[in-house]
Amino acid sequence: MKSLEHPGEIAVWDPLIRLFHWTLMLSFLIAYLTEDELQALHVYSGYLIAGLLVVRLIWGFAGPRHARFSDFIRAPGEVAAYLGDLIQGETARYLGHNPAGGAMILALLFSLSLTTLTGIVAYGAEGGGPMAGWFLGTRMFGGEVMEEIHEFFANFTVLLVAFHVIGVILGSLLHGENLVRAMITGRKQA
Ligand code: HEM
Ligand code: HEM
Repeated sequence: MKSLEHPGEIAVWDPLIRLFHWTLMLSFLIAYLTEDELQALHVYSGYLIAGLLVVRLIWGFAGPRHARFSDFIRAPGEVAAYLGDLIQGETARYLGHNPAGGAMILALLFSLSLTTLTGIVAYGAEGGGPMAGWFLGTRMFGGEVMEEIHEFFANFTVLLVAFHVIGVILGSLLHGENLVRAMITGRKQA
């Protein structure tokens, strides 16, 4: 699709993907910073993330080309080959997500899903949320165990985000293009 207002540029990220990304980043920051003192804000930003994940899952099948999982899920061999090229500093340019970026997105979506799910279960054990009272008296789901697992996945997601941002910076430098700008405007050079 050629964009008439911006000659030489093509639309890559649709508005839903861009809204998804920046809302996710903001709500993740809020959830991470409010875990203890501001539990209502923590829980609501967590629900927002859970909702975003459901929408993104549907969009991965029903959305436009570069939003689809089939556009960026590659075989492990292809991801490894891409990372090998990356070390040599010579990677092919992809209009959508590159193979390593695609693998990172899957990892992020997976880890975020486990973080929100374990959060909802831990909250249920405290008597709140949609699962309130489901796990009363159970060792695995009640008490501190689920909270520990929840904390682990929250921190694991932070680690993934760090590598995600490093990947975005590397990809931008290697191809002399601003990928952050592309995630804001939706457009890339043709
Ligand atoms: C300073 C912070 C961040 C920057 C600069 C950033 C930048 C980007 C960029 C440029 C892309 C597109 C990658 C590409 O061109 O292939 C992207 C995709 C993505 N980012 Fe981030 N990101 C940030 C934080 C986060 C956080 C905190 C999360 C999750 C907790 C996140 C999750 C994702 C996901 C899931 C995608 C895939 C988008 C999709 O296709 O749905 N990002 N990010
Ligand atoms: C991606 C979203 C989320 C992130 C990054 C996140 C992060 C965290 C972190 C880092 C903690 C601290 C763990 C500790 O110190 O013990 C925590 C605690 C907790 N989270 Fe989440 N969380 C998220 C979503 C949710 C959701 C959706 C719920 C429930 C609906 C939830 C409920 C809780 C509860 C009940 C605690 C224990 C608080 C306490 O009593 O100290 N979280 N979360």
